[in-house]
Amino acid sequence: MGRLEGKVALVFGAGPNIGGTIAHFLAREGAKVVVADMNHDAAEDTVAFIKGKSLTAHPVQANATKAEDVEHAVTETLAAFGRIDIAVNMAGRVHWSHLLDMKLDDWNESVLSFPTAGLLTTKYAAKAMIAAGHGGSIIHLLSTAAHFGEASGTAYTSAKAALLSFARSAAMDLAQYGIRVNTVTPCAMEHQLWTLMKDEIFDPDWQRPDRMSFYSRDDYLKMLPLQRFPRASDLAWATVFLASDESEIITGIDIPVDAGLRHKYPTWTPGDHTGVNIKDYAQQVRVTRFGEPHEKLLPQSEESAGDQT
Ligand SMILES: NC(=O)c1ccc[n+]([C@@H]2O[C@H](COP(=O)([O-])OP(=O)(O)OC[C@H]3O[C@@H](n4cnc5c(N)ncnc54)[C@H](O)[C@@H]3O)[C@@H](O)[C@H]2O)c1
Repeated sequence: MGRLEGKVALVFGAGPNIGGTIAHFLAREGAKVVVADMNHDAAEDTVAFIKGKSLTAHPVQANATKAEDVEHAVTETLAAFGRIDIAVNMAGRVHWSHLLDMKLDDWNESVLSFPTAGLLTTKYAAKAMIAAGHGGSIIHLLSTAAHFGEASGTAYTSAKAALLSFARSAAMDLAQYGIRVNTVTPCAMEHQLWTLMKDEIFDPDWQRPDRMSFYSRDDYLKMLPLQRFPRASDLAWATVFLASDESEIITGIDIPVDAGLRHKYPTWTPGDHTGVNIKDYAQQVRVTRFGEPHEKLLPQSEESAGDQT
């Protein structure tokens, strides 16, 4: 508590999953938080939750890929709380498609959205920090997609890899102003195992032998050295650290929040040795909203959760 006392944060993409949890944790550590989302209701929900905890938050509807919206969000932050010390960005649009089927509009939307949001949020937040004569911390959310090749993920991997390179270079441009730029990389999140993801990469119907081979939830779990999927709270703790003065000498780095996935030898499958399996794992899944337990969204039953692997 109190690690961000006196600071003001602007968070882009702050629905109840990752962004809302980050906004909540920043506020819990003492920051005043502006919650910016292109979806008005998402921003309002997050602010209502944070205010319900007697913490300070303010909503702004803004599309992080539009310069005028980002400029407006920064102006609103200064008007509401007088300064800006922290900016967090995770905005963008994902299109999954085999490259042979990739539509140019989908490609442009995905590939442009993440690094464009990266550029605009960094540029306008940094200008306000520089004008105020103090430093700051800017954090972008990546994905393992930034670091690996992924079947049917050319648009997403290109977008997140561009955001990673952008952040490293931005760290160099802004170092002279005492502004730090870092990134956080999650792998597949626990909150998507039985919700959004079942219709995407974990859907067995996606296994088209002529085009690609995918993995099941069980395959994925077995690959994780720590044998737990990351939760939004895990990302929020890493973000709090990068936002705070505890990391004041750290810039241009990426923190993997991935249970060790990126740093293990690729052909080692830890779960083959421990016998971990997704049906057992389903019993310990902790579905959360804003980083707190959320009973309603728990998998319906062990049986149905297991059936989807
Ligand atoms: N969920 C996962 O498994 C996972 C894994 C790796 C990386 N990530 C990354 O984490 C981030 C957030 O994931 P999530 O699961 O919380 O997603 P989510 O879809 O639950 O929330 C994303 C929020 O961002 C908002 N948003 C999207 N585009 C925006 C834009 N242009 N301007 C402003 N707001 C915008 C949406 O309205 C939504 O509220 C994304 O960058 C995603 O790529 C997620």
